[in-house]
Amino acid sequence: MKEKLWHEASSFIQTCYQELGKSIEQTENRLREIKKQIDTSCFYEHTEEELSHGAKMAWRNSNRCIGRFFWDKLHVVDQRNLNTVEDIKEALFHHIEYATNKGNIRPTITIFKPKKSLNNQVRIWNHQLIRYAGYETEHGILGDSSSISFTNACEKLGWKGNGTHFDVLPLVIQLNNEDPVWVPIPESLIVEVPITHPFIEGFQDLHLKWYAVPMIADMKLEIGGIDYIASPFNGWYMETEIGARNLADTTRYNMLPKVASIMEIDTRLNTHLWKDRALIELNTAVMHSYKQAGVSIVDHHTAANQFKRFEKNEESSGRKVTGDWVWLIPPVSPATTHIFHKQYSNVDVKPNYYYQEKPY
Ligand code: ARG
Repeated sequence: MKEKLWHEASSFIQTCYQELGKSIEQTENRLREIKKQIDTSCFYEHTEEELSHGAKMAWRNSNRCIGRFFWDKLHVVDQRNLNTVEDIKEALFHHIEYATNKGNIRPTITIFKPKKSLNNQVRIWNHQLIRYAGYETEHGILGDSSSISFTNACEKLGWKGNGTHFDVLPLVIQLNNEDPVWVPIPESLIVEVPITHPFIEGFQDLHLKWYAVPMIADMKLEIGGIDYIASPFNGWYMETEIGARNLADTTRYNMLPKVASIMEIDTRLNTHLWKDRALIELNTAVMHSYKQAGVSIVDHHTAANQFKRFEKNEESSGRKVTGDWVWLIPPVSPATTHIFHKQYSNVDVKPNYYYQEKPY
């Protein structure tokens, strides 16, 4: 246990301190300090600087993320001192407001205290801070099918949605091994974008919308052997996430047949490529709507170019870029990006963000 923590800690501190331009003496002093802490308590505490740089390194090492060009622009909010549901709720509201920034999205992470034991932990149950509910009804699925189990959990806790396709779920916060608490997000904090098309008017009649900021809340940030199991983070959307997956997947909002219908294209023959044509217009609509609403978004061609610059930067810094090709290629026109034509080594470098088991 101690061995392993010390191993992880020292390897992190060495890389981190070297990147931050610290002297050998500073590094050795810090390592001695950490060794002492680990020996007496099986734990050690990161300085704010280590926490902040560690969270950025974790983004840099996120093999599935095409947006890593901006890794060192992450805004890190240290909330490790919070111990009540009330304070944690306020910090989450603050994250939503600060990150959204009236549409000019700021990549942000809020880090709560790391897990020490079952009796000493903060856990956020949400997959994303803002997410639409999903209900299984006799007439089929209502809302976002990917939220069904979490929506059920919220209902068990006493929450009730309005039963629309776009009910924003409450925040669910759990302290230690106590009962989780749900809190509705004030409407004034939630920015959403109605989806319209620059020239196909029928789009409005689909009454589609999506929320502005994807804030992942259920991943664990691991830095130097310490597990930050509650550390919600966000960037801005790439249009395909919404237009080619959330609204298009047959297991999600499944909108391609309806988009084809407002475009008046024949859906009887695959050879007419109606899905592809609907997909392009849906993605065009998402791009157009976010821009018109003044909400940050990137298209997949620009994102791929930025990723190429990230690869160049990393090479000049003497680091290897790791990546997960299957995730890095965009789901629309992948072969038009350089990523499609390269191979990436999908090895796990730490610090990093990891999936964890659902608490419900
Ligand atoms: N794909 C997820 C979604 O559609 C969001 C994942 C994070 N995306 C991002 N651009 N930072 O909600």
